Amino acid sequence: MVSREIIHGIYHVGAIDFDRRLFDELIPLPNGTSYNSFLIRGSEKTALIDTVDPTKEFELISNLVKLNIDRIDYVIVNHAEQDHSGSLPMILEFFPDAEVVTNEKCKDLLIALLHIPANRFRVIRDKDTLSLGDRTLEFFMTPWTHWPETQLTYLREDKILFSCDLFGSHTATSDLYVTDEAEIYHSAKRYYAEIMMPFRNSIKGYVTMIKTLPLELIATSHGPLYPRPQFILDSYEDWVSDTVKNEVVIVYVSMHGSTQKMVEHLTDALITRGIRVKPFNLTRTDIGELAMALVDPATVVIATPTVLFGPHPQVVYATYLANLLKPKIRFASVIGSYGWGGKSVETIVKMLDHVKVEIIEPVMVKGLPDETTLRSLERMADDILKKHSDSKII
Ligand code: FEO
Repeated sequence: MVSREIIHGIYHVGAIDFDRRLFDELIPLPNGTSYNSFLIRGSEKTALIDTVDPTKEFELISNLVKLNIDRIDYVIVNHAEQDHSGSLPMILEFFPDAEVVTNEKCKDLLIALLHIPANRFRVIRDKDTLSLGDRTLEFFMTPWTHWPETQLTYLREDKILFSCDLFGSHTATSDLYVTDEAEIYHSAKRYYAEIMMPFRNSIKGYVTMIKTLPLELIATSHGPLYPRPQFILDSYEDWVSDTVKNEVVIVYVSMHGSTQKMVEHLTDALITRGIRVKPFNLTRTDIGELAMALVDPATVVIATPTVLFGPHPQVVYATYLANLLKPKIRFASVIGSYGWGGKSVETIVKMLDHVKVEIIEPVMVKGLPDETTLRSLERMADDILKKHSDSKII
């Protein structure tokens, strides 16, 4: 991989990972990802902002060697997670005089995760500045985007915000900058859903603060950089807002067709009532797409057959994940089928303890849904429509 100059004296020296298909052994990466790292040359000092995943550390070193960098004074660490910090031990070996500049919490994590010696750190706090000579770095503490130690670095003179994970997209592209906003919108929304959505309320305040900064570029650490920062700031403002849409997401598994029939009938009933529906068959679903679908809807319906005495394990997994992601949904319900009883409804409702939702009357049926069940599903669609209308959800 090659380094690229952003503006005079500022370089992208990170790595593009076209082949990576899974993150945290959990999140599918259909488009790969990148680990963006930046070198800033000031008139007196040189700083490296974040490093790269340890699998790509030789690319980072090679980029620095090709730029003839023989001294780094500061390594700014915005986030301790290893996809950005994992090459720090090698960088500190190559540049023995470099100081690691970060906040106290991040320092603790870097010592714990990477055994960085305590004497290599310079600890900074919110709004502290660091001069590189003719360039000034300013730091903003932004905990929980998405770990407790996360911070942002702002380059005042050039109006560049180095946001690390925040505003990222898991996209491997040779384009340094966003060229197609619609394409990146999808990828960035998916990333927001998977990584940032549980911290929506904190991020709301950070977006407001960032909008007050003079900005010419947002340089995130995953995916292409934003030369029109307003685009991603406006998108985030929408996603983190309290507004929900007139949409229902149905997540389901069907073993012998009964639950499938109920899902299809409910889907049709909702469409007939002018409500947007997104059904996800969990046996064929990329969970990243499901996470993204949970950003906007007012209602989620969980549909499950009964395995032994409870919900299907795939439904349990999806419900557990949805609960962790804390979407801003307002209403939820459960539908499904059983053979001889079970506690699917209670189990699922109990699992939704992180989301504050009103539960709409569930519909469960013994065996194949009959006419009475189909009418109950139509009543559920009526209920959903009324709840949305009463809450002025459009
Ligand atoms: Fe891209 Fe939280 O690491």
